Amino acid sequence: MTTTSEDQLANSTNEASLLRTQARSEEIESAIAEDPSPFRMLTGARPTGSLHLGHYLGTIRDWVRIQDLGVDTWILVADYQVITDRDGVGPLRERVLGLLTDYIAAGIDPTRATIFTHSAVPALNQLMLPFLSLVTEAELHRNPTVKAELEATDGRAMSGLLLTYPVHQAADILFCKANLVPVGQDQLPHLEQTRLIAQRFDRRYGRADPERPVFRRPDALLSEAPHILGTDGVKMSKSRGNTIELRMSADETARMLRKAKTDADRHITYDPEHRPEVSNLLLMASLATGEAPEAIAERIGDKGAGTLKALVTEAVNEMLAPVRARRAELADDEAYLLDVLHAGNEKANERADRTLHQVREAMHMIY
Ligand code: TRP
Repeated sequence: MTTTSEDQLANSTNEASLLRTQARSEEIESAIAEDPSPFRMLTGARPTGSLHLGHYLGTIRDWVRIQDLGVDTWILVADYQVITDRDGVGPLRERVLGLLTDYIAAGIDPTRATIFTHSAVPALNQLMLPFLSLVTEAELHRNPTVKAELEATDGRAMSGLLLTYPVHQAADILFCKANLVPVGQDQLPHLEQTRLIAQRFDRRYGRADPERPVFRRPDALLSEAPHILGTDGVKMSKSRGNTIELRMSADETARMLRKAKTDADRHITYDPEHRPEVSNLLLMASLATGEAPEAIAERIGDKGAGTLKALVTEAVNEMLAPVRARRAELADDEAYLLDVLHAGNEKANERADRTLHQVREAMHMIY
């Protein structure tokens, strides 16, 4: 049976394909451990607010780990993507600098990593035009992540930008010739779309030498860290007031965790299905200390939720102490943050200009 590219896109989150992606992620992990030099990682996030513990444990810590293994690291602050599902951008400048502060505090090293914004890299955005000609409107409408994001907007109409942002994301990844994109499962359809665009571009405008395609085919690197929930046992999100933000003080963190929801059973066990709140606290402590959640539960035993909360508070505060100290230093130094961003933007522009030139060359548009 043949699979059309449309099926491929629709299936990119199905189980078999997820298993393949996981297996591929493991292969890549061992390849990096052996030699990081063939890899370039590009990842990004929307500047919609400050980072919380869920982001830190779920993604950022992993980016830092890969950077520290020696992989060339590019991090996009996706400022144009902010307007895909909302009208206004909010206090964007403050949020971009806040995100940058959080990244550097968390261990992204601006002397090695390239940190940049969409809006400062015109050639990246220009790739959107040829790329849009390589996708069908039906394909865009089928993207399950775009559908889910539209549904989460409470009845807003689909904007042209929301519908086409996976194509913009393909430009983010392809302009810098990244071959590694650490993402959560929800971003896999975009990665599949990116590979299709790369493949179709080379097929349509391909260079004579098939060994030298214009674009690389990027792989997803699935994050292994399990998702942690908010202090009320549901999804961590700022609007619910259940988050522990990197910028909170140790005391504020203690207060948040003291208020955390638990259950009536004094005996602490790790049972995510039946005891989501207690298990989530155990998971936080586990991710912070590296000890298995079951072992932590056993140590606490009958000492109850108060003991559990004290233990989690100490573990989280200890892990975040150096991050917070760096954060405090950086937050007062806007000039430094702007220098980092300007240097990153400059490097991204050089790379994007070169790629756009190759694209124009392939399309016979050099005049
Ligand atoms: N779409 C991603 C998100 O919402 C952010 C993002 C934009 C991204 N461009 C990217 C992630 C490129 C990885 C690669 O979280």
